[in-house]
Amino acid sequence: MTLINENYLKLKAGYLFPEIARRVNSYIDSNPGTEIIKLGIGDVTEPLTPAVVTAFHEGVREMGEPKTFRGYGPGQGYDFLKKLIAEYDFKKRGVDIRPGEIYVSDGAKCDTGNMQEIFAVNNKIAIGDPVYPVYLDTNVMAGRSGVCQENGTYENIIYMPCTENNNFIPELPQQPADIIYLCFPNNPTGSVASRQALKEWVDYARQQRAVILFDAAYEAFITDKEIPHSIYEVEGAKECAVEFRSLSKTAGFTGTRLAYTVVPDKVKAYDTAGKEHSLAGLWQRRQNTKFNGVSYPVQKAAAACFSDQGQKEITERLQYYLTNAALIKEELTKAGHKVYGGINAPYLWMKTPDGQSSWQFFDTLLHQVGVVGTPGAGFGCSGEGYFRFSAFGSREKIQEAMERITAAGI
Ligand code: MLT
Repeated sequence: MTLINENYLKLKAGYLFPEIARRVNSYIDSNPGTEIIKLGIGDVTEPLTPAVVTAFHEGVREMGEPKTFRGYGPGQGYDFLKKLIAEYDFKKRGVDIRPGEIYVSDGAKCDTGNMQEIFAVNNKIAIGDPVYPVYLDTNVMAGRSGVCQENGTYENIIYMPCTENNNFIPELPQQPADIIYLCFPNNPTGSVASRQALKEWVDYARQQRAVILFDAAYEAFITDKEIPHSIYEVEGAKECAVEFRSLSKTAGFTGTRLAYTVVPDKVKAYDTAGKEHSLAGLWQRRQNTKFNGVSYPVQKAAAACFSDQGQKEITERLQYYLTNAALIKEELTKAGHKVYGGINAPYLWMKTPDGQSSWQFFDTLLHQVGVVGTPGAGFGCSGEGYFRFSAFGSREKIQEAMERITAAGI
């Protein structure tokens, strides 16, 4: 008899975004002809930029010729790409990361989800609440939580509420945490962390001998010069933090797939005898066993992002989405709503009106004006009473969504 991993049975509901898609599709089925505007899942709508497309073609052309054809590449990514990442994403910001500390992959979602595998099952996990569901769900699947309680939280997980009172920045936990997930600019609240806030976390982690898993997938949306893009801009972080980056939102790669994770040589964790081990060694071992790297043309396309022309083109795309975010913020605020985020981030976090629950408001928007967003409660208990709008979309559609909301007096 085959037994299942019963930890999966602890998971509360389906993964958030497919669940939203299911509800939207069922609404469309019963209301054919309704024109829906989707500001739910953060998925880019602008095409790859010209520099990226040219390099992508070149990569494909090389694969079609005997002299330049390549088979398996290095599992951690080609050096030509890692060198460019080290230079453009770190050196230019005064951070020294070696190309060898960079692990190229096909997504920050997989990397943030897979990273927990190299840690013991009895580590105590701390997550923000609300949170990107991947951090929590993958730890539940691995058996690091107890059951899901009536209020929607899991036993044995440290939740760090992110509310209006703390500007949606988690406070240090009251009980010791071994693995801390942080995400800035934050998904879903759009909050950003100051250097000082990150320093407190780095100091805490070093003192606890804990590891910070820092998701910086949205760093490219930071325009405020004072806000750090990388946790490694904070002293000591290279001893305690792993950082996740992605080209998905930065360069429109959600359908092309390229991300990378930085595991500095100095980050250590311990065995039960107290002996120190390098996380990089374990991560490399894990990846070598389960992953064969990203395709050559995709890495070639990604490398084009790290050129002066590529950066210029990408910045224009980012600016387009940031202008969308500003428009959503302005219109919703004018309509009398309280809206957070959306300045150094592509997400806006709105308080639901008239005490509606997040899912009630989801239905109100869908049924009354055909606009889809993401209910805050889908990101955790502290997300209840909030709603997330994504700024990824065409300007026309976003304008229309705001007009529909305003005209309906929502
Ligand atoms: C989101 O909408 O939160 C993101 O698109 C999810 C993701 O990047 O996996």
